[in-house]
Amino acid sequence: ELGVDCLWLSPMYPSPLRDDGYDISDYYNIHPDYGTLDDFKKLIAEAKKRDIRIITDLVMNHTSDLHPWFQEARKSKDSPKRDWYVWSDTDDLYTETRIIFLDTEPSNWTYDEVAGQYFWHRFYRTQPDLNWDNPEVIEEFKNIARFWLDLGLDGFRADAVPYLIERDHTSNENLPETHEILKDFRAFMDEEFPGTILLGEANMWPWDLRPYFADGDEFQMCFHFPVMPRLFMAVKKGEVSDVIDIMERTPDIPANCQWCTFLRNHDELTLEMVTEEERQWMWEQYAPEDRMRLNLGIRRRMAPLLDNDRRKLELLNVVLFSLPGSPILYYGDEIGMGDNIWLFDRNGVRTPMQWKNAPNAGFSEAEETYAPAIDDDAFGYARVNVENALADEHSLWYWTKHLIAMRKEHPALSRGSYEFVQTDNPAVLAILRKCENETILALANFSNKAQVARVALPEYAAHEKVELFSQIPHGCKDETHRTLLEPYEYQWLLMRD
Ligand code: BGC
Repeated sequence: ELGVDCLWLSPMYPSPLRDDGYDISDYYNIHPDYGTLDDFKKLIAEAKKRDIRIITDLVMNHTSDLHPWFQEARKSKDSPKRDWYVWSDTDDLYTETRIIFLDTEPSNWTYDEVAGQYFWHRFYRTQPDLNWDNPEVIEEFKNIARFWLDLGLDGFRADAVPYLIERDHTSNENLPETHEILKDFRAFMDEEFPGTILLGEANMWPWDLRPYFADGDEFQMCFHFPVMPRLFMAVKKGEVSDVIDIMERTPDIPANCQWCTFLRNHDELTLEMVTEEERQWMWEQYAPEDRMRLNLGIRRRMAPLLDNDRRKLELLNVVLFSLPGSPILYYGDEIGMGDNIWLFDRNGVRTPMQWKNAPNAGFSEAEETYAPAIDDDAFGYARVNVENALADEHSLWYWTKHLIAMRKEHPALSRGSYEFVQTDNPAVLAILRKCENETILALANFSNKAQVARVALPEYAAHEKVELFSQIPHGCKDETHRTLLEPYEYQWLLMRD
């Protein structure tokens, strides 16, 4: 009903859940807590009926240490699975590689008593890295992909892809050999399952991300990580230059590729792609309490981050929908769900969807859920839930639905070219989106004060303009389009010929 046309499911495979499912112990099944393969087939069928595609996470870099492959591998150096993982007699190999889970892991090597060697892991020690130099691993992953795509899945979000291959004296990230493997994987999917998609998760700078699109023959889509924290920076500073700067430093991508943009997801709001100084500032501003921080990020949801201020929630979403790329919404953010910073790790932003004011927020009839539903005063399920949102025509849910519908109605916003237009006001972002038949000027005031902005667009002076949210015509015929914007106000101006 919201208008979503693709679901991305985080890992639903059997797993000991040491990393919430990103530690897979069987790639060919569904975790019994979630249901069965038949349930999953039914989900795909029902989604298709509603024109909704489904992609799932495919964790390629590592498995769970409880996966039978690893259990087999650790048994002996002669085990046929030994070479499926990365081993060393010492822990002083690959010392130039950074640690990602800084809060918990002192090293990327862990000694395994049974194996009598160290194994390599870029994430938790319960997630040994696979050895992608081994052709058997490559073949196995093609079989895994075949299994799910045969069921009618539309593609994968390929998890943690920069780290597939290791080479001494490198950072072990974004290596050319890793790109070769990914390209080969894409070619296989194109050939056997045309029309399916690979979305790459590489938390990198735009220039390091660019190679993941290659010549349009590696990933069709990649997350644009660096723009995300800058949107939060901009709204706090009341100044937009950081957003413009990172987008202007983003290289063009092939015509058959697209960015995925997002404000929040299931992980911490990552601050990997900002400077040390910016990170400290973001922590001070958005994570004043220690327990709100995790690794290099902030483990909070969108509504609490934005003071549950409807104006800021709308502003950032409109900007997200005005930037190039396909926006991804995190479940629950469309009703303004909160977080629970008392839960471990990132679980605080992974609480049950709040459907209604009922036990477990209507998410489950089980006596107890994996994580408790949020029940505090501001964000608790008694108040913040889908049922209430649907009963209130002014709710964030209806607003989000409208936003999605408008983007679908106006191809300039989804497929159009984009350029930043100069305003004379550092608080106001102006993005011009253009496709063959239409032009839209998106204006957004990031400041908590009313602002006047003049936008130099002489070629559109004579055009009639209509603001799409209010449907109010905009009378301005000036060469320097002059607009008054209330605090956090945004506009989408459609230029009529
Ligand atoms: C996922 C995380 C996960 C990690 C290791 C990612 O980047 O988004 O949730 O912990 O990969 O699999």
